[in-house]
Amino acid sequence: TDRYAVFGSPLGHTKSPFIHSAFAAQFGEDMSYEAVEAPVDGFEAAVRAFIAAGGKGINVTVPFKVRAEAMADEALEAANICGASNCLKFEDGRIIADNFDGVGLVRDIEDNLGVELKGKRVLFAGAGGATRGALGPFLEAGVAGICIANRTVEKAEEVAHLLGPRGSIHACGYDAIGQGFDVVLNATSASLTGALPPLPAVAFEGAELAYEMVYGKGKTPFLALAENSGAEQIADGVGMLVEQAAEAFQWWRGKRPNTRPVIEDLTIPLE
Ligand code: ATR
Repeated sequence: TDRYAVFGSPLGHTKSPFIHSAFAAQFGEDMSYEAVEAPVDGFEAAVRAFIAAGGKGINVTVPFKVRAEAMADEALEAANICGASNCLKFEDGRIIADNFDGVGLVRDIEDNLGVELKGKRVLFAGAGGATRGALGPFLEAGVAGICIANRTVEKAEEVAHLLGPRGSIHACGYDAIGQGFDVVLNATSASLTGALPPLPAVAFEGAELAYEMVYGKGKTPFLALAENSGAEQIADGVGMLVEQAAEAFQWWRGKRPNTRPVIEDLTIPLE
């Protein structure tokens, strides 16, 4: 049995074991997937112990993504760009890092929600890890332009510069946001505490999609505002969660799982 796990702290409500068990069952793969709540000062030791015990790979979540990246012998492009990894593979005594959050988000938007990103104008609220991870895959999808709004504008500017040469990305404060966006994403951590980033209602006028990157918080203040302000479609991060897991599974096992039934199982209606 090949061992995999998700490492994070705290991990109370993680859906990753459920998702990967469902994927494994689709192919009859001989693998196990556990949840490891590593002590905050002992992440690296816990990973090395897992490798020594025969672990083949792990997913990594808050607060360990940057340290997972630092442990890697080799970081693939997406992990490199964000300086953070959500997935490690252990192979021939080496640690290889990647980050599938951004590609999972793009897949969810295009394949599951039916919104093509090519030529679209995109607004990200927030300039933390969630936005950094998404920028590369959004540019690859051919978006027309990306605006990053943040309370601390300097942080948004730093993130914009990171990928600036590869496409049209600009930074602004919330008070400078107008209309004209096709897709608006909440990439702040505000929804975790029931708060709302100070987005003006006009940001959602004519938008095809408003996307809340967290999962399991129901109709957050962001999604409620979006719905009341003209967004055609609202979605939370359940599809992103399952799609990034599918990318990890494929990287580890060489097989592409069917995500639809797993998303259906995990979907909590936004009412
Ligand atoms: P991570 O890198 O793990 O995503 P982070 O760097 O703390 O975490 O990023 C969290 C993001 O959520 C930031 O963009 C933060 O805005 P600031 O950089 O201005 O602090 C944003 N954020 C958190 N709570 C928010 C709130 N109540 N309203 C608006 N933005 C919020």
